[in-house]
Amino acid sequence: MAGHFLKSQQGQLPPVPKAFRGEPQFSQFMAPVRFEGEITNLEIIGDVPKELSGTFYRVMPEPHFPSFIENDPWFNGDGVVSAFRVKDGYVDFRQKYVRTEKYLREAEARRALLGKYRNRYTDAVEFQVRSTANTNIVYWNGKLLALKEDSPPYAMDPETLETIGLWDFDGQLPSVTFTAHPKFDPVTREMVCFGYEAKGDGTPDVCYYSIDKNGKFIETVWTVCPVVGMIHDFAVTENYVVFPVIPLLCDVERMKKGGEHWQWENGIPMYIGVLPRRGAKGSDVKWFRAPHGFAGHVANAFETPSGEIDLQLANTPQNIFFWWPDKDGVSPRPDEIEVNLLRYVIDPKSDNLDLPLGETLVKEDLEFPRIDDRVCMSKHNIVFFDTMDRSKCDFPFVMSRAGGGHPLYNSLGRFNTTTKEYTKWHAGSRKMVQECIFIPRNEKAPEGDGFVMVLVNNYETMSSELAIIDTKNFEKEVALVKLPMRLRHGLHGNWVDDSDVDGHPGVLPKL
Ligand SMILES: [Fe+2]
Repeated sequence: MAGHFLKSQQGQLPPVPKAFRGEPQFSQFMAPVRFEGEITNLEIIGDVPKELSGTFYRVMPEPHFPSFIENDPWFNGDGVVSAFRVKDGYVDFRQKYVRTEKYLREAEARRALLGKYRNRYTDAVEFQVRSTANTNIVYWNGKLLALKEDSPPYAMDPETLETIGLWDFDGQLPSVTFTAHPKFDPVTREMVCFGYEAKGDGTPDVCYYSIDKNGKFIETVWTVCPVVGMIHDFAVTENYVVFPVIPLLCDVERMKKGGEHWQWENGIPMYIGVLPRRGAKGSDVKWFRAPHGFAGHVANAFETPSGEIDLQLANTPQNIFFWWPDKDGVSPRPDEIEVNLLRYVIDPKSDNLDLPLGETLVKEDLEFPRIDDRVCMSKHNIVFFDTMDRSKCDFPFVMSRAGGGHPLYNSLGRFNTTTKEYTKWHAGSRKMVQECIFIPRNEKAPEGDGFVMVLVNNYETMSSELAIIDTKNFEKEVALVKLPMRLRHGLHGNWVDDSDVDGHPGVLPKL
């Protein structure tokens, strides 16, 4: 029976600490602040470009209560959504927790009840939905969707950040899970999605679905993955959906014994599933086998003139999630992990399913690649990403990654995949960046011309700053928007421009 592992062992709810433990992931910059509210007219150093009119939404995991789980990963906390409203050169700020089932029940009990990361057998009570809603926040049909890949979305009001509730798309959602990385087609205006472990914990089922601009599910395909692996991000082209599988595998029997949901598996390839996007059957999927490695975030994928899929993603042979080691307890040292930007070229018609290692596009420790969303699913040239320049960082400070486990990058990169031009923006010697986003200067601006926005952790002042960079002079920000508080390291965010009719940018105009 789910949900009573600890309770049945001890006959009572597991005791909880009254304060957050001193573990690195809950200390210093990562100490939860648990702030809800608003701050108008944030302080600004420099000038916020007047062209910017919209809202930057981002989400971070921030536990509402100290957990009874020792060494809980930093991203098992409750989702807190921050909204930076930018208009006429001013910035207002609003922040609220997502009212998940977990949040509401724990608030009522005044203590943590949820157990280990994605392990229901360690919970203190039985939950219907275990979502922390802490991974991504996207705008869809007038609502915000707060996403965690083990559950359906939670819908929120974009203005007030009030939680509307669990969102099953008026009963259409076929799978018990929903990706944290849906893709938005700038041409058809579809939201393209999937769920993995789509029939519940430990199931190899993957469910692909696409939702049209009116909210109707227009494609639903069930297929089966060769392993029960983590499929955190995916890619979409005009005619295909692509599922890179991280070799972290789930074992329900291990979970029932109180173990981890995920364990690194050394002996398997990095599977990449390719499924036709339109009118497919589950049996149409091809599981290509790339060399063993961690499939990180996807920059983009598109089809070449010869019909191959050009997939560009963050990739490393190492286990980025080192806190989930292999069966022997072995993980890489976190300061030795290096993630690069790689390109895999896949012929979807080929029967040879073995892929060589992809071409390295940027050989530098990086993650969180983002593109100009107007070229999503078609050929892009420019990729923005977080990167680590160790020469510009206090070394002992870098080592704090070892315990905390959260990504630490101090710079942003802009790489042109066609010209190979590479430029960088550096945050400062005691500053770290979160994921950046790109905002086009206007709807007619060429690809990559506009502004990059990034939340910066200032370890000198122990507070957060929103940096705004004009791509015309990428090396120096035009504005630093100061928050009088810390925002814990977050995961993903997105810009919703006031000029975007449905909250997403249109197609890049042909020049
Ligand atoms: Fe992600």
